[in-house]
Order: sequence, then C-alpha cells, then structure tokens
Amino acid sequence: MKVKVFKNAEEIGLEGAKILATQIIKKPSSVIALPTGMTPLEMYKNFVSFVKTGILNLEKVHFFNLDEYVGLSPDNPLSYAYYMNENLFSKIPSVTHEIPKTDAPNPIKEAASYEERIKKAGGFDLCFLGIGVDGHIGFNEPGSEFSSITRVVKLHPSTLERNSKQSGQKVPTTAITVGIKTIMKSRRIVLMATGKEKAEIMEKALWGSVNQDVPASILQIHPDLTVLLDEEAAVHIQRHVVP
Ligand code: GLP
Repeated sequence: MKVKVFKNAEEIGLEGAKILATQIIKKPSSVIALPTGMTPLEMYKNFVSFVKTGILNLEKVHFFNLDEYVGLSPDNPLSYAYYMNENLFSKIPSVTHEIPKTDAPNPIKEAASYEERIKKAGGFDLCFLGIGVDGHIGFNEPGSEFSSITRVVKLHPSTLERNSKQSGQKVPTTAITVGIKTIMKSRRIVLMATGKEKAEIMEKALWGSVNQDVPASILQIHPDLTVLLDEEAAVHIQRHVVP
C-alpha cells in the first residue's frame, strides 16, 4: 500500500486526476470505476481541464460508476447519474459510461446485469474510491460480505442521515452497489479521503483488524492500493507511515 499525504482537497484532486489521465494514456481502453460524493469533485474538475488540453483519447475508455440510489431517474438531482453528468460527463466529449439503472422495474435483475457488464468489459483496470465515515466503500455498508458482488443494498441510518444532510433532501433507503469482491478484483485501487471526520476511520481501515464491520479494511490486502489523504484525514496515521 502506498499512502500519500497532501495539504488539502485541491492537491488530492490534482493527484487523482493525474492518476486517471496517465491510466488512460497508458491504456486507452481502460475500464475505470468512479465514485461520487464530495471527495472526488476536485478530481473531476482537474480531469476536465486535462481533457480540454486535447491530449487524452477517450474513445475506448469505459467508465462504470460504483453505485446509485434505487428508484431515481437520471434527471433527478439526487441521483448519482445527475451528479456525474453535472460534474464530469456534460463537460467532456461523449464517452462510454455506465451507472446502475435503478429506475428499471427490477433493480435485482439490473444489479446482476451490471456485474455481468463489468465482467464482459474485462473488470476494472483502475477503481477510485471514497470512504464513508462508517468505513463503507461504494455503498457496501458495515457487515457487507467481502465476497459480495453487485447487488441491491439497504443503506445504514448514519449514511442516510449524512447523505440527506449533504443533499438537503431525504435520499432513498436502498441502492445498487458494485460489490466488495468486484472492487477487490480491480487491477489498481485509489482510495481518497479528506477532512478530519475521516481521520478515525482511515486509521481503522488501513491499520485496524480486517473484518466486515469495516468494509474498507479489506483494501489492506489489495496488491496495488494507493491512498490519497489530506493532512486532516491523515492525523491518526502518521505513526504508521514511514517517511
Ligand atoms: C457516499 C457514496 C460513496 C462515497 C462516500 C463518501 O455515500 N456512495 O461512494 O465514497 O459516500 O462520500 P463523501 O466523499 O461525500 O465523503
């Protein structure tokens, strides 16, 4: 595991965008998983400016989002489809991009099909992750099986509270998320966290015991994990990191 500590969210965003851009330059047909939330916003902003330089060829890249609330249409501002469009896809030339279609009549079927679509694309070359204060990755809440694949999940009360607060409205109580096993199969994972409210969970996730109560803890055994933290999120981990 490589841990890099940055001054602030802006610096992490730039680093994340560089990792994303270099992956596409190295392998133009990369399959890349993308997160939502506040943390990756700076990365998307910087990536848009890299795309605008004209240096990146996005024709063969295949993006998959990690999760989506059940029951929202893509034009609902609470949906992650809307978020992705607002923050990335409306700002770059059209690309191959998938997000679980949770307004479909049968979300369980859609989850299974999403897993198949990821498999058919060759699995993730690179997966970006944020982390919830409860240690969730994607929407894999505490208690999720490490062997889980893409499925419909019930969201934890603390996630509902936090996400509803963030969006100023009650968010749906269920979602489709890419599973932990699917995430762990990514050739490379980049986990990003900012702010003091993530400090405790980052120490638990990266140096605590590996168990399903902290879904992100399984990342400790991923063979190619890069962690990008700002100084606030890194306060408890300094003693673990050899300079
Ligand atoms: C949300 C998303 C996750 C995201 C996490 C952290 O619930 N489903 O994919 O990584 O919570 O969000 P934030 O970056 O806003 O802290």
